[in-house]
Amino acid sequence: MNILLCAAEVAPFAKAGGLADVAASLPKAWAVLGHRPLIMLPKYGHIDVDNYEIEPTQTVISVPVGSWTEYARLWKTKMPDSDVPVYFIQNSDYFDRPGIYGNPDGFTDNDRRFLFFSRAVFEAAKAIGFAPDIIHAHDNHTGFVPAFLASFYRRDAFFARTASVFTIHNMAYQGIFEPRRAMEFSGFGMKSFYRGSWFEHGGAVNSMKAGIMFAEKITTVSPTYAQEIRWTKFGEGLQDALESRAADLVGVLNGVDYSEWNPVLDTHIPLRYTPDILVRKDEVKARFLMRNGLPEKEAREHTPLLGMVSRLTAQKGVEMLEKTLEDFLAKGLLRIALLGTGERRYEDFFRYIARKFPRRAFVKIGYDTPLSHNIIAASDFLAVPSLFEPCGLTQMYALKYGAVPIVRATGGLADTVEEYDAAKMTGTGFVFDRFDRKEFRAAMQRAIICYRFQPHWNQIRQNGMARNFSSEISAANYVNVFSWALQKIGVSADKE
Ligand code: ADP
Ligand code: GLC
Repeated sequence: MNILLCAAEVAPFAKAGGLADVAASLPKAWAVLGHRPLIMLPKYGHIDVDNYEIEPTQTVISVPVGSWTEYARLWKTKMPDSDVPVYFIQNSDYFDRPGIYGNPDGFTDNDRRFLFFSRAVFEAAKAIGFAPDIIHAHDNHTGFVPAFLASFYRRDAFFARTASVFTIHNMAYQGIFEPRRAMEFSGFGMKSFYRGSWFEHGGAVNSMKAGIMFAEKITTVSPTYAQEIRWTKFGEGLQDALESRAADLVGVLNGVDYSEWNPVLDTHIPLRYTPDILVRKDEVKARFLMRNGLPEKEAREHTPLLGMVSRLTAQKGVEMLEKTLEDFLAKGLLRIALLGTGERRYEDFFRYIARKFPRRAFVKIGYDTPLSHNIIAASDFLAVPSLFEPCGLTQMYALKYGAVPIVRATGGLADTVEEYDAAKMTGTGFVFDRFDRKEFRAAMQRAIICYRFQPHWNQIRQNGMARNFSSEISAANYVNVFSWALQKIGVSADKE
């Protein structure tokens, strides 16, 4: 199949969270499976063109917006370590500035930026002669892609046999815009905007809803989240829209690019290790602690290191840690290594912890890919106590690195981590159900006890390292969804 993936984030070029990892790993896996993927993303001002050998092409496309036309130049490279082509949509007005979304508040023209990108995808595909079987659009930023296909482009012979699949990564961000501005710019006009229309929710334009309503098939990033968004408040107000598309909605668990996240191959970490030489993992931990200023004797003490690599937002459940972490650190039961950035109140909490426990808490507020690998490799536990979690990737990375996840049973965390059963010696982590500090504390205690007792401590790590959440499994599942999407528009799917 020719698969055109479009997303606002693609690693390593532009990344804010897991969307970037998934948008990068799926096409690589489709190529391995024999398909022809192609990636498109905006050319943001901060993308390092020299480092990734991104070059301008001679192709300039015209993009219809509103009642006028704007232009974009295509830039091109390949995914690192693969032949998957990547096209960047360059337009100075919309993208020549640093940052993807302009967080925390968002750029005021995010409506136009992402509508422009969503429309440019079609013009770019035509200009380069890539006729997609599937356009795979991700999250609210590309929510209008299925709408453009269904309403404007399918009547073009070039896209007559193209189906769209829309993947929801996070219902908490919906791309909500002022109607007049967005509807005019999109080309649909205000005639398509009325109460209950496929673009409207709560009186505003809702890009996520457009994606949900217009796509042939809708997926979200774990089976549990696919249920949660239909039935609980995690649907963030779009439960009805999702319910109306329930027959076409499916959860496809994210996968991991094990060429990137693998303790056997990882070049970011000082020593590589396999499940049968976990002493090397302990050495990675000791070196991490020594690099952070601990004398050797202290660094080699038998005290667990709790890692966390996370956006610091309410979603991630930082408040679960608030009291427990301080107690445990004060008693010397743990050390913590945190890497994260986000809301000020959570950043301040960790700064406070770092000041209070300088020899037990290693905190870096910021974004740092090599350090994220080092923390996951050095840690004994990884905390992901999320309020909600569409899928979550760090717990899957942790499993592969022999860091035992401590997670709340929500979304993809529930689908990927299994509570350790000491009698049967099965399971991979520690799981708590309710978003409740006491439950989190109890899970932490179970983890600390396990850490102290062999053979359990080795067994739980071996169990986790043996789990396989490869992106190739995920990619193959998507190919099935793509065939169903094609059937829906009456095209028989060629699985090649
Ligand atoms: P989300 O997409 O909700 O942020 P995921 O667990 O799916 O959560 O993905 C987060 C991704 O972002 C992982 O690859 C993680 O390693 C990375 N990440 C998060 N925060 C940081 C940070 N401060 N520095 C480097 N990488 C980070
Ligand atoms: C979102 C979700 C996260 C998921 C990621 C990739 O950012 O918050 O749970 O893993 O997308 O799908």
